[in-house]
Amino acid sequence: MFKSLTALFAFATNVYAANFKRVTCPDGNMVIDVACCDFFALMGDLQNNLFDNQCGEDVHEVLRLAYVDAIGFSLENPSAGGGADGSVLIFPDVESEFNGNEGIGDSIDALLPFLSAHNTISAGDLVQFAGAVGLTNCPGAPQIQFLAGRPNATAPASDGLVPQPQDSVDSILARFADAGFSPDEVIALLAAHSIGRADNIDPTINAAPFDTTPFTFDTQIFLEVLLKGVGVPGTSGNLGEALSPLPAAGELRLQSDFALARDPRTACTWQGFINQQQAMSDAFAVAITVGRPP
Ligand code: HEM
Repeated sequence: MFKSLTALFAFATNVYAANFKRVTCPDGNMVIDVACCDFFALMGDLQNNLFDNQCGEDVHEVLRLAYVDAIGFSLENPSAGGGADGSVLIFPDVESEFNGNEGIGDSIDALLPFLSAHNTISAGDLVQFAGAVGLTNCPGAPQIQFLAGRPNATAPASDGLVPQPQDSVDSILARFADAGFSPDEVIALLAAHSIGRADNIDPTINAAPFDTTPFTFDTQIFLEVLLKGVGVPGTSGNLGEALSPLPAAGELRLQSDFALARDPRTACTWQGFINQQQAMSDAFAVAITVGRPP
């Protein structure tokens, strides 16, 4: 059996019909399983009423939420969390207070109305589906597989499962390993930061991008985190000593990205994505969707 419980977006039971016979949904869409029908309406609703068919702030925040929900899982301690089970939506006041989850309240608030409006879809499916749909608006992003069927969370995840920027590389790699991810897969997943902007690291900067192209899912993040730059007064905050130099005014580097880009265990993979759009995009799609054999 595949250890798909550990995969971010693949945390699901399989809804594929055994013989791939087509089913016609009430709205005329053709699917291979009737369970897929309700997702068309959800997709349209998300695109029109949340994302505006853009790769904007709401898409970025929802993708981060999909990651935060999914990483709340531990191979060592299965009772610590259910992974991509929608616990962030079902226990919003609990998980938004956790360390590492600063700022997820906006995306929780954004998605909760969709949970009510599309009540045949579980919270876990909604979070992961929204991430997958949102990514399709981002130039350069892969289309990622979505499998439906996540049961609703019955308990919140435990605090401490979401890595923080000030964590050591040892700690980050250990946490991801405990969720089933190799160091190479961690770097592939961090391609998500190519569409990232931070609101909660340095209160003096609003929506500080991690690279110069925060609305494009491109390889600039892998280049720019390695660049030396001028630095910007007032951006040091409590992570100041450890932030990498800033190549452009208003940008921000996460200490964790800085450290992972330079650590001997991950530097080659990090550098290998520079100007390698297809390889980076493919690796992200695999890391975020595929469970691995035990
Ligand atoms: C070492 C692991 C990671 C750390 C320490 C980390 C930390 C952070 C932090 C601190 C922010 C800024 C939040 C804010 O101030 O608003 C952020 C943003 C973001 N993260 Fe991560 N992250 C990690 C891994 C990931 C992964 C694996 C994904 C997805 C696969 C992801 C997706 C995002 C996205 C899309 C944003 C941008 C959110 C926005 O623009 O509003 N992160 N991350």
